[in-house]
Amino acid sequence: MRVELEIWRQDSPTARGAFETHIVDDATPEMSLLELLDRLNDQLCEQGLEPIQFESDCREGVCGACGVTVNDRPHGPVPNTPSCRQHLRAFGGIRRLRIEPLRSGAFPVVRDLVVDRSALDRVIRAGGHVDVAAGTAPDADEVRIPHDQAELALDFAACIGCGACVAACPNGAAHLFAGAKLAHLALIPQGTAERGRRARRIGEAVEAEFGPCSSYGECVEVCPAGIPLTAVAALHRERLRAGLRGKND
Ligand code: FES
Repeated sequence: MRVELEIWRQDSPTARGAFETHIVDDATPEMSLLELLDRLNDQLCEQGLEPIQFESDCREGVCGACGVTVNDRPHGPVPNTPSCRQHLRAFGGIRRLRIEPLRSGAFPVVRDLVVDRSALDRVIRAGGHVDVAAGTAPDADEVRIPHDQAELALDFAACIGCGACVAACPNGAAHLFAGAKLAHLALIPQGTAERGRRARRIGEAVEAEFGPCSSYGECVEVCPAGIPLTAVAALHRERLRAGLRGKND
């Protein structure tokens, strides 16, 4: 099948970018979006042209490395699905795709479809970790957690940090991402020791890097992990709790 692609090309962070049109004549419905880009890059290399730069790793929806905007939608037309799992068969009659980087002021373009998402790393570095006394591996049942609580923590831990929530948000906020980290760690005993400090630091970092959330909810529509809007509520709750309990929490 024939697919027409309008692709964003940009040589460097400071270069002026523009869309380029390419045709892939032998696309198949089973192809994923990234396989379509692979096929296009084969064509470009055969013609002695520069291949299109884009990121991917697992191609299974696990790592969060992939992320492009397709026809104005982060990751593509299928809701809650990362770019690597978007297959052409699900696009219906769409045969013309405009593919560009994840768009956000906090994600400068590095080259073509690759953006710098290190602002997310800085939020995590501000406090999204736990300090644990490392020793021999404890028995699995040594730290007991009610099953429902463990399941809920795992649901929030499913965030793959792709940044689609930021690109979908009219404000460019990352509260869904930050809230998922805070909710996940607040729900497990290992995360309680630094709970207040973590909420303060992550809360400050996410607002400094990305700006405020207005609860539009666009982030939830594109999140590949299905993180719910309650993650944003968790962020506000954790910050409020930390503020009320003071600096020693
Ligand atoms: S390449 Fe890993 S989530 Fe898409």
